[in-house]
Amino acid sequence: MIMNTLSTDQQNLDAILTEVKQQGIDYLNHIHERSTANPSEVEIIPDLSEEGIGVKNTFAQFNRRFEPVMVASSGPRYWGFVTGGTTPAAIAGDWLSTIYDQNTQTAKGTGDISAVIELETIQLLLSLFNLPKDYFGGFVTGATLSNFTCLAVARQWIGKQLGKDFAREGVSGTVKVLSATPHSSAVKSLSMLGLGSGNFIQVKVMEGNREALDVADLELKIQALNGEPFILISSAGTVNTVDFDDFEAINILKEKYNFWWHIDAAFGGFASCSPKYRHLLKGWENADSITVDCHKWLNVPYESAVFFVKEKHQLLQVETFQNSNAAYLGDPMENFSYLNFLPENSRRLKALPAWFTLTSYGKRGYQEIIETNVEMALQFADFINENPNFGLLAPVRLNTVCFSLRDESLVAVFLNKLNKGGKVFMTPTFYNGKKGIRAAFVNWRTSVADVELATNAMLEILNEL
Ligand SMILES: Cc1ncc(COP(=O)(O)O)c(C=O)c1O
Repeated sequence: MIMNTLSTDQQNLDAILTEVKQQGIDYLNHIHERSTANPSEVEIIPDLSEEGIGVKNTFAQFNRRFEPVMVASSGPRYWGFVTGGTTPAAIAGDWLSTIYDQNTQTAKGTGDISAVIELETIQLLLSLFNLPKDYFGGFVTGATLSNFTCLAVARQWIGKQLGKDFAREGVSGTVKVLSATPHSSAVKSLSMLGLGSGNFIQVKVMEGNREALDVADLELKIQALNGEPFILISSAGTVNTVDFDDFEAINILKEKYNFWWHIDAAFGGFASCSPKYRHLLKGWENADSITVDCHKWLNVPYESAVFFVKEKHQLLQVETFQNSNAAYLGDPMENFSYLNFLPENSRRLKALPAWFTLTSYGKRGYQEIIETNVEMALQFADFINENPNFGLLAPVRLNTVCFSLRDESLVAVFLNKLNKGGKVFMTPTFYNGKKGIRAAFVNWRTSVADVELATNAMLEILNEL
């Protein structure tokens, strides 16, 4: 019976995929009109039927029950969190990842060698970011997992400094981690790594409404460790105000002290695509490890991020991630396989959407996306500055506007109404002791018309309050 349904579906594959394609085209061509707010709730059906209903009926059921709750999160006015869009090339690449369905591990041999695409994509990304080629990189599902991967290698490095092999023996003692404004996902990674999310040593931020670390305080905190090795988690773009740590100053400290230097550049790394903003990252090329999210400013579909770890640390990386019980692997350095370098074993060909979009639009394409988004952020900030009901909570340093209402008690009700309106979506935050709102611009589609539409919606709500 089931074989009948499967073979009918197989026979109708052309019609099914054509219908899916047409719906996809309609959705993407009208995404600017689609609501950013979910209008309804979905009732969950907990039981699976004995007999399947085939893909045609399943598609109809999806359209009836789930499609209406899809919000335009990859559209031009979804400014909450740091939500990237999807370029046409990235969508094409993503479809092909599904169709070819490789299990991306190795780059040589007689079977699946799709890791070749991933290795090449990493080179293209290093080239896009003007980073040196002495980094080894790979794809994981998001910046959280990238932070986790980098910090796992850092943990192994610390162990080695103390004559221990944490990967085999487990973590012992307290690993010292210093940071000023780590993203919550880096702190979560410390918890997942058994280092303790409550264990990191807080470095002061610079004076003057900054989130970047205060280098003098960092040096004091380092000296207090009396030569103990430590991990520094630094920021290339904090999530609230997109502040960057001073990487040139960190380079000088790296000459003097023994530490693992990690940079979370989830979206701020893309500043390197523009000569106007590249200076923010000056000196980052000496970090031991770097996190970059691709489903943010590269505008590829979820789930996609990369880690870059200096090649000189490859052995530590393999010690951390190798499948120790898999005898057939041999020496992982010789018989390269991604599964020995990162958390997952089986894995999707996540590099292909990134490869498609990088190859399609090149360095110039990304420079334009980054510069246009920053331009839109600045225009939106002008609106905030010019309206006495609003106020910026921090200067706009790149692509995110962090602001509040003059009457702070109205922030929650204002944002709730705004988001419910479905024209634009933003997220709440808390910055410098104040309730605020964040609008992050990381979508290639966002235009002046979108900023106008959003600001008009904001003015309407102000009138209602
Ligand atoms: C600086 C930074 N690091 C890490 C993350 C976590 O990224 P993801 O949700 O892709 O795991 C984010 C997400 O906004 C971020 O902005």
